[in-house]
Amino acid sequence: MKKVTIGDRQCSVYDKGSGATILFVHGFPLSHAMWRGQLETLKARFRVVAPDLRGFGGSPLPAGVEADEKSTMRQMADDCAVVLDALQIAGPVVLCGLSMGGYVAWQFAKHHSGKLRGLILCDTKAAGDTPEAAETRRKMAEHVLKHGTSAVAEAMPAKLFAQVTHKEQQEIVAEVRKTIEATSPQGLAAAQRGMAEREDVRSWLPNIAVPTLVIVGREDAISPVDEMRAIADAIPGAKFHVVEQAGHMAPLEQPGDVNTLIADFVGSLA
Ligand code: MLT
Repeated sequence: MKKVTIGDRQCSVYDKGSGATILFVHGFPLSHAMWRGQLETLKARFRVVAPDLRGFGGSPLPAGVEADEKSTMRQMADDCAVVLDALQIAGPVVLCGLSMGGYVAWQFAKHHSGKLRGLILCDTKAAGDTPEAAETRRKMAEHVLKHGTSAVAEAMPAKLFAQVTHKEQQEIVAEVRKTIEATSPQGLAAAQRGMAEREDVRSWLPNIAVPTLVIVGREDAISPVDEMRAIADAIPGAKFHVVEQAGHMAPLEQPGDVNTLIADFVGSLA
């Protein structure tokens, strides 16, 4: 992993390969490691860049962030832009974001459009939170700050994977549980507060002007197929694919299928 300086802190970034650049932005509450099935394979053909977002993996929150502060999706998008500059990636990139990484992608598309060649949106949402969902996030933030991440690590994987993954790929489920357990409570809480306040971007979708690929796991219980299809329908010219035998973590559950979709899409933009 490389270290990139952002203000007073270091951001940890995976950066391998050469050619067209794909920027992978992870989901919550994970790290760049959720993309390992993509990074190890696609680095043979593309430059693959995968930061740990602020407060996750090897990237701390900015110094002085208090327990009740938030990490906004805009701040995370701005961090990604700084990472690209620091790595001297001059040409526009394809941003591939999963779930929270998709929320970051919307902000990146709006505020850093000059750096964007294409978008891949995996298992994400364009709508904002309902007041109830936002309240649940704030409660989770308070809980982890008081009690740590164990309860979230125990409960969350049940919702993330397809039934078949729980049965046949238990090592992936265990790995994600470990990642959540190791996440800093402050980082997790700040991201929850940031997501609770994120914008509803559905009205932005018709203005997205870069080629876009939308991918969703057939059994995604968090960002269901119909919701993802509506996102694809609203973005001019977007392609839409459902990945079988996958849930919310489609790239981790079915890396072969997802890698083919990504490689064909990015290859077609060359
Ligand atoms: C994620 O996978 O990033 C989360 O499901 C996002 C969220 O909590 O909305």
